Amino acid sequence: MSKRVLTTESGAPVADNQNSATAGVGGPLLLQDQHLLEKLARFNRERIPERVVHARGSGAYGHFEVTDDVTGFTHADFLNEIGKRTEVFVRFSTVADSLGGADAVRDPRGFAVKFYTREGNYDLVGNNTPVFFIKDPIKFPDFIHSQKRDPFTGRQEPDNVWDFWAHSPEATHQVTWLMGDRGIPASYRHMNGYGSHTYQWTNSEGEAFFVKYHFKTNQGIRCLSTEQAQEIAGQDPASHQTDLLQAIERGVHPSWTLYVQLMPVAEAADYRFNPFDLTKVWPHKDYPLQRVGRLVLDRNPDNVFAEVEQAAFSPNNFVPGIGPSPDKMLQGRLFAYADAHRYRLGVNHTQLAVNAPKAVPGGADNYGRDGFMASNAQGRHAKNYEPNSYDGPVETGRPLSAPLAVSGHTGTHPAPQHTKDDDFFQAGELYRLMSAEERSRLIANIAGGLAQVSRDDVIEKNLAHFHAADPEYGKRVEEAVRALRED
Ligand code: HEM
Repeated sequence: MSKRVLTTESGAPVADNQNSATAGVGGPLLLQDQHLLEKLARFNRERIPERVVHARGSGAYGHFEVTDDVTGFTHADFLNEIGKRTEVFVRFSTVADSLGGADAVRDPRGFAVKFYTREGNYDLVGNNTPVFFIKDPIKFPDFIHSQKRDPFTGRQEPDNVWDFWAHSPEATHQVTWLMGDRGIPASYRHMNGYGSHTYQWTNSEGEAFFVKYHFKTNQGIRCLSTEQAQEIAGQDPASHQTDLLQAIERGVHPSWTLYVQLMPVAEAADYRFNPFDLTKVWPHKDYPLQRVGRLVLDRNPDNVFAEVEQAAFSPNNFVPGIGPSPDKMLQGRLFAYADAHRYRLGVNHTQLAVNAPKAVPGGADNYGRDGFMASNAQGRHAKNYEPNSYDGPVETGRPLSAPLAVSGHTGTHPAPQHTKDDDFFQAGELYRLMSAEERSRLIANIAGGLAQVSRDDVIEKNLAHFHAADPEYGKRVEEAVRALRED
């Protein structure tokens, strides 16, 4: 078999890939050594900005198959027929650490699904927790700064982590989640995924429903103790990546069953919890889970950089039949992601294979043109303005989803209060659901972090939140923190 020839970037054969060109034997290098210059310069440009959050992750391809009829609630094409299959790409991630961090850490996990539907890509960008730490996007950069590395010490600091939570009582529910058993999943395969936010579905009659998504793992939930996680993180920092990659390579294809909770729009105003508050769940007895379909992952990407690092998920990528709710956090995210993609990947990131819509042959069909790295002949010979007289693509006149009702005056309003809208009730409910052993591990995890905080006032503020959630919860955390600080 003839050997393939190594080439320069312009395709010319390379004569020597072991020795740089020099002026004489042992002399200085020559500027004319194109292969050397190109090789070093290209290497310098291998890294792109990492995601500002969720930097570390793993991805896989697969499909989603509808198993139950939901056409009474949404006219989304990919959900309109039992048995219908849609290709997907899923990226799982940790949140706080940078690309080089370890997988087995106490941190929420990202659970982002891109459905390549016949009516465009639908991105459901969720987490493995049904709630979040904050309820207004204006707090997100501060929250993330407090959880990532300190600008002076360059380390994640318990002082910052707990100081932010001390000032954010609405985080108590998610902190209880994070410090509990599910705070460290054993792998990406052994955790659930949640859309977390409330979204809106619209059926073909124009009737609207608020909806929450739940992907339940069919592998069973498996978690790690703090000690197990520390050991695994030391042995194989990429433990989640190893697990997902090897399972799929072995033909063991992970799957999740998708359920939804559905709320008729008219019920939202009087529900006991604000249905658009991301720090709250809808108890299943109020809105039971209804099965929709099955998500299966069966193919590893060929190239982690091209397909996982450059994957771009945006909560703003909706398809007809699905739209946003007035959840303020979601509304903030509708801006943030595509903006991050334009910075991190460039304006033409939707031309990359992993991001390109499969609905339209040849990619998006619109009048957007040019920009860095335009790699396809956008629009080919067609006109680049609209309206035009040349049969260019035109609007449908059909809104993707039902309109949202609004009232009142503009202003920086806190979220509307519903009857059960305190910051602690659901955190207490979660605590009370736990077994005696789970509660003990939760207390130990919280105390282990909180006892490292240097300021008493920050500790006291956090203790007050646990007391407010449940008196026993508060008392036990307080005792455990005191015991550790007296040591
Ligand atoms: C990634 C912003 C809340 C889940 C990101 C990225 C940004 C961001 C800028 C990086 C995107 C990229 O470079 O590709 C925000 C803002 C939030 C918020 C401003 C609140 C206002 C949330 C919430 C969830 C979530 C509530 C889950 C329910 C994710 C996931 C990723 C991500 C899964 C990684 C997506 C991927 O795998 O590429 N977020 N985020 N974020 N975020 Fe958020």
